[in-house]
Amino acid sequence: MDKRKLHPRVHWLGAIDWDRRLFDSLIPLPDGTSYNAYLVQGNHKTALLDTVDPAMAHILLAQLEDVEKIDYLVSHHAEQDHSGTIPLILERYPDAKVVTTAKAKPMLIDLLQIAEDRFVTVADGESLDLGGLSLTFIHTPWVHWPETMVTYLPEAKMLFSCDFFGSHIAANDLYVIDQGRVHEAAKRYFAEIMMPFRTVIEKNITKLAPLAIETIAPSHGQVYDRPAWIMDAYRDWVSPTPHNLVSFPFVSMHGSTRIMVDHLSASLARHGVRVELFNLAVTDIGKLAMSLVDAGTIVVGTPTVLLGAHPLAAYAAFLANALKPKARFLSIVGSYGWGGKAVEQLAGMIPNLKVEVLEPLLVKGVPRQEELAQLDRLAATIAEKHSHESFRA
Ligand code: FEO
Repeated sequence: MDKRKLHPRVHWLGAIDWDRRLFDSLIPLPDGTSYNAYLVQGNHKTALLDTVDPAMAHILLAQLEDVEKIDYLVSHHAEQDHSGTIPLILERYPDAKVVTTAKAKPMLIDLLQIAEDRFVTVADGESLDLGGLSLTFIHTPWVHWPETMVTYLPEAKMLFSCDFFGSHIAANDLYVIDQGRVHEAAKRYFAEIMMPFRTVIEKNITKLAPLAIETIAPSHGQVYDRPAWIMDAYRDWVSPTPHNLVSFPFVSMHGSTRIMVDHLSASLARHGVRVELFNLAVTDIGKLAMSLVDAGTIVVGTPTVLLGAHPLAAYAAFLANALKPKARFLSIVGSYGWGGKAVEQLAGMIPNLKVEVLEPLLVKGVPRQEELAQLDRLAATIAEKHSHESFRA
């Protein structure tokens, strides 16, 4: 892939990773991803914003073949999918300085063993004059590490946001064409790594509000030439107000828990509550994370295995606890054969969730009529709780 022009003096560089299916040995990437870097060439100085995953360093180096001088290498974020090729760039351009936050500098030294004298640290709001173009650095911590910042190029009304507003999509089109597809990918991305920091991200969005932004150029996925919708989507995702939605991860071994899951789902639907089911034996964990962005209530369904929760249900509880979604209510349903502590075990795994626990229901064997009626009462309680709050539709 060649360099691509975004503006007479700004080019996209980077690598499209069509094949990657897993990030951090954890996060599914059904649509691949890209590592975007940007070249900003002023009258006197040239800046490269971020690099690429080191596995694709050769692509970036080839794109830079006709670029004689880089004065500044801006590092928005120390994670290696953007920073990992910095050492090779510094080797090729011995006078280039790494421009980054004071927090990122020691991280880059630790992760990449870059010499200390190659750095220039920038304060929040500081600008760098390139000659006819200027870069303003805005500290935006926790999108999604503590050191992150973004860069604003006022002469082009362009924001370089790194992971912020990014999406894992491999695509030839430079700009977003299919908004629905990118919305889903960006939500998945937000759900998997940004959600735990939504309160501080909300402050970062407010901080960007005064800027006139016509283009957002993230470091994953496509460039937004009409960025209003992705900023609106982020405002919804970081909002503390959940939707009228139950996120329902479950696992069933011999069908008893499944009967309960289906019964409770149908009952919730009759009460006008949306439900999203995730069979943990087969589900894409990213889809569950996306559901947790919106859910007002989480219900976990589990059978009993070796006297405790099914390990897949424990995984879902661990994940939810780490992602800290905005849900306000939680319950647990399931079955057992002869005994066990599945409810206590799962309830003990979610200390980060600020939820009211609605009475769990664990039945012995297959649920009977009276237990199905109890599920109906749980559905009515959830519907009532949702109606009393200012939930979104
Ligand atoms: Fe795309 Fe947090 O690195």
